[in-house]
Amino acid sequence: MAASTTDIPARQSAGATPTAALSPGTEPHITVQNLEMSYGDFVIQRNLNFTINRGDIFIIMGGSGCGKSTLLKHLVGLKSPAKGEVLFGSQDLWQAEPEEQARLMRRFGILYQSGALWSSMTLAENVALPLGEFTDLNPREIRQIVSLKMALVGLAGFEDFYPSEISGGMRKRAGLARAMALDPEILFFDEPSAGLDPISSRMLDNLILELRDSLGATVAVVTHELASIFAIGNNSVFLDADTKTMIAQGDPKKLRDECPDAKVRNFLMRGQLDQQANGAQA
Ligand SMILES: Nc1ncnc2c1ncn2[C@@H]1O[C@H](COP(=O)(O)OP(=O)(O)O)[C@@H](O)[C@H]1O
Ligand SMILES: [Mg+2]
Repeated sequence: MAASTTDIPARQSAGATPTAALSPGTEPHITVQNLEMSYGDFVIQRNLNFTINRGDIFIIMGGSGCGKSTLLKHLVGLKSPAKGEVLFGSQDLWQAEPEEQARLMRRFGILYQSGALWSSMTLAENVALPLGEFTDLNPREIRQIVSLKMALVGLAGFEDFYPSEISGGMRKRAGLARAMALDPEILFFDEPSAGLDPISSRMLDNLILELRDSLGATVAVVTHELASIFAIGNNSVFLDADTKTMIAQGDPKKLRDECPDAKVRNFLMRGQLDQQANGAQA
């Protein structure tokens, strides 16, 4: 775990500086300003304003269909805003020249909902893909980095396995090893624990925490799993489908206990407020 990978040429050529382990919440890393997101004329969310700080594990939460995955696509450069800005430090992702945008995007590691491994490739081949594509490393160097990343997610020795030969939790971790191949400064996850049993889900949460701490990465996670939200999140935004905007932001535990909006408290208490209200009526 202690092995540093900050000397990998990919990272250096991307011009990024290795990040020291910082306590979360001290320096803005991603700033979203007046963001409006739409598919064609259909507005999904508007007036989004929030900051993800360096070292945060930032949770994007809200009910199904409110626009969480869509927001993630805007943050990683896959979908352009209808209005507003996404800033990395002081750089506007969507105003940047294509080359500069690609350079910014190289600093991201993304783990999609499905894990999205190629089934015809071994785990090592999957993890090696971004290294082959984006760096000039030779095969021996690539193999070394792949082994290091697989060890980091607890999959040492599974290099030659195919995705179908391992469990769902292991596939997620292999996807994570691939997301980390280029030493990303920011890791993005869409519903990382979807389809996992509670134990595997918890292992993945612990791994996310460990990686944040050891690599000094910033992490943005889309999830509605309460156990995960409270276990790993120190900051968050809550998207509401009815009003089509964010209705809360901040530490999820504080929101659960103190948020003025009952909808947010109710969500974070797994509907307990509704139940109490119904109980009072009965
Ligand atoms: N490619 C698309 N084209 C049109 N509408 C979409 C597309 N993707 C998602 N939507 C719609 O946008 C809304 C938000 O979707 P999504 O971001 O996937 O929500 P969440 O991840 O919070 O469940 C939903 O109403 C969904 O049907
Ligand atoms: Mg989604």
